Amino acid sequence: LDNGLAIQPPMGWMAWERFRCNINCTEDPDNCISEKLIVQMCDKMVAGGFRDAGYTYITLDDCWAEKRRDPLTGKLVPDRTRFPRGMKALADYVHRQGMKLGIYSDMGTKTCKEYPGSEFYIQTDAQTFADWGVDMLKLDCCYGGSGMEIGYETMGFFLNKTGRPVLYSCSYPVCLGGHVIYERVAKTCNMWRNAIDLTDSWDRVYKVIRIYGDNIGNFSAAAGPGHWNDADQLMVGDFGLSNGQQTAQIVMWAMWSAPLFMSVDLRNIGVFAEELLLNKDIIAINQDWAGSPSYRVWQDKRLPVTTDIIEGWIKRLSDGTTAIAILNGSNYGEPATVVKTPRQLGLLGNTSYIFRNVLTSEKSGPFNDTVPMKVRIPATSVYFVVATELE
Ligand code: DGJ
Repeated sequence: LDNGLAIQPPMGWMAWERFRCNINCTEDPDNCISEKLIVQMCDKMVAGGFRDAGYTYITLDDCWAEKRRDPLTGKLVPDRTRFPRGMKALADYVHRQGMKLGIYSDMGTKTCKEYPGSEFYIQTDAQTFADWGVDMLKLDCCYGGSGMEIGYETMGFFLNKTGRPVLYSCSYPVCLGGHVIYERVAKTCNMWRNAIDLTDSWDRVYKVIRIYGDNIGNFSAAAGPGHWNDADQLMVGDFGLSNGQQTAQIVMWAMWSAPLFMSVDLRNIGVFAEELLLNKDIIAINQDWAGSPSYRVWQDKRLPVTTDIIEGWIKRLSDGTTAIAILNGSNYGEPATVVKTPRQLGLLGNTSYIFRNVLTSEKSGPFNDTVPMKVRIPATSVYFVVATELE
């Protein structure tokens, strides 16, 4: 979407994966979806250096609203007990911290968790969000009708009409089963979900990696400045992924130039996850201004289990180097020894290459047609290098 936003993949924090639809502030006051939670996370994003690393959006998901619209104005109303000062006050707070506030709605009659949806209130909701000072809208697609695509375009039109820059995140490619024309989606939205919901498990993360590798619906090339494929939130720092798996997730998201929205409790995040999320080299590859598409260029299947796959991805970077990720995604526990020449990895030059390991900064090479690189990769983890061609 050509609205001047998301020139690089957006980064931030999103409430959903970690905090879900927890609205029980009586029993769980520290973890329920509330103003207090957002304020605390916002403060942590600033104090922990996340804002300065680029994570500038803090985004509510489902379950922030009252179950009924205001009967007189038809406007959405934030839950009165959980957001006692309203959304404008929360947006003001977030802005004072140098951050941006995201909100959530749905292009259907209801949201997935059955809060009021925007379907018959598109202009009202666009204006309400702008009046509150919201900077991002994630528009979900549960309970959406057949006219969903037009609905999303209409919301985009009315958001634009408010005059407030609002980053527009769309979900409809998932709900339409990928039966969309991505060039058109890219004109409508700044980012869009095109794969299943992530949960805190390697199986799910790996499934999304497969969907991106198979490029179902042909979306890889639709990414670029202003419009990005959204592979869903990062599970880094949560409960379900090993260190290798967390690394593999953020590395693949960086390869795809996917938005980096963490969904983690920053009040008690571990050191490993914190350092991974703040890794400057990974972020720089994610944010590379060219936003070149990334492709899976090879897969080696280890028999007899045909789902035991080692795969290689490349992404051209704007400084002429190339990022290469080799993933041993298999759950079978087998480490992989990968021996490949630069050409087999998808590098096209006729000379030699030096590899810099992005995670350890170690250099190796030079590698060329007669000297292949060799690396051993534990199961469910990634080897991540930047290749520089020698003159
Ligand atoms: C489905 C979306 O894909 C999730 O990211 C989340 O927004 C939930 N709906 C909320 O109900």
